[in-house]
Amino acid sequence: MGLDVNKVRTDFPALHQLKDGKPIIYADSACMALKPQQVIDALVAYYTEYTACAGRSPHAFSLKTTRLYDDARKDLARFINAKNPAEIVWVRNTTEALNLGSHCLSLEENGKGTIITTSESHNSNLVKWVRLHNLGKIELKIMEMPLTGMFNLEEFTEIVEKCEEGNFLASLNHTSNVTAAHIPETEIAQIVHERDGILQLDAAQSFPHRPIDVQKMEVDLFAASMHKACGPTGMGFLYGRYDLLEKTEPLILGGETVSDVHYPHDIKLLSPPTKFEAGLQNYAGAIASGATVEYLASVGMDKIQSHEKLLSRTMINNLRETLGNKIHILGPENPEQRAALAAIDLKGQINPHEVAILMDEMKNIFLRSGFHCTHAFHHEKHLDVGTLRPSWYLYNTVEEVNIFVETLQEIFDIMA
Ligand SMILES: Cc1ncc(COP(=O)(O)O)c(C=O)c1O
Repeated sequence: MGLDVNKVRTDFPALHQLKDGKPIIYADSACMALKPQQVIDALVAYYTEYTACAGRSPHAFSLKTTRLYDDARKDLARFINAKNPAEIVWVRNTTEALNLGSHCLSLEENGKGTIITTSESHNSNLVKWVRLHNLGKIELKIMEMPLTGMFNLEEFTEIVEKCEEGNFLASLNHTSNVTAAHIPETEIAQIVHERDGILQLDAAQSFPHRPIDVQKMEVDLFAASMHKACGPTGMGFLYGRYDLLEKTEPLILGGETVSDVHYPHDIKLLSPPTKFEAGLQNYAGAIASGATVEYLASVGMDKIQSHEKLLSRTMINNLRETLGNKIHILGPENPEQRAALAAIDLKGQINPHEVAILMDEMKNIFLRSGFHCTHAFHHEKHLDVGTLRPSWYLYNTVEEVNIFVETLQEIFDIMA
């Protein structure tokens, strides 16, 4: 049986409200996903029933927080098939996870290493590398991506072959938030590992939408945000192979990261993941992240993935039928190869930002316009006014997708 979208929708209180007497069509999940009651309950329970820190005080509230904080890590490890819960580090978001992951490239030990990324990378997987490059600390290779989003394995292999063996990190977008394309991660892992490099995936747009098995993919580092997966804001994680994390320098140091300190210069760092989680943590967020993956697993990631394929097919086919050459949809032609989002170039006929405002005013359709934090890609492809981006998730219906397409056509009829 497929996903029962009507049942799923009952879990999301935000969808039960009306705006101007009409339902809301939420098409901005690539930015921020809505939250099910199960996740909200987990957050509220922490704040109302047992607010305390984990791992320090011996009282009942703290013991409960410690247990649930650890359980959430185990739940997430199981969800992505990590070998060991200690391979999960809680951080604020994908951005922080990617920054931390880059510390696996031991620059001090090995001298100037290389980071490889692509031109369609989100700013969180680009800006830091450009900065390090501009400061002379790393070599940076940015592989140019076409508008179709298709990953060129041959070109990538050539880049990898020019890197110093064992001293490079490929930090790649697993699923693009503009082209909606997925990269062939397993082939990429083989190419990277043949030269003893590290593969880090920016999984902000893949983790929420399809089954993940980090061991099967043979990825070394995997970074994602919980807020795009129906989870709490301000929570994300870095999965890292344990042996890599052991060698990695933390981003932030302080309380909880050490087992002992002696005046004046002696500190003993703890093992992963504790050495990376400095200071008191977002316990409510971590515990609610456990509830998040439990929720997604209860719906079924396979079912979520096939439901999104249906939404994607419906959107792409209907847009082509109704608007044809008036628009250009970035990414693969074949809807089966796409995530359930589309960055749409309106070819200068209407401003995408105005369309996004009109969509809200006319039909309560909430979506995003602009550069989607991929300024470099948009500029390089001469998409200087940005694109319009609807993005769909498990709680969206085919009817909603159809309303979006009809409304875009209506706006074109009025304004173009
Ligand atoms: C592909 C991709 N990478 C990274 C990010 C950054 O996520 P966060 O802002 O949660 O760190 C996003 C968010 O839009 C994204 O779409």
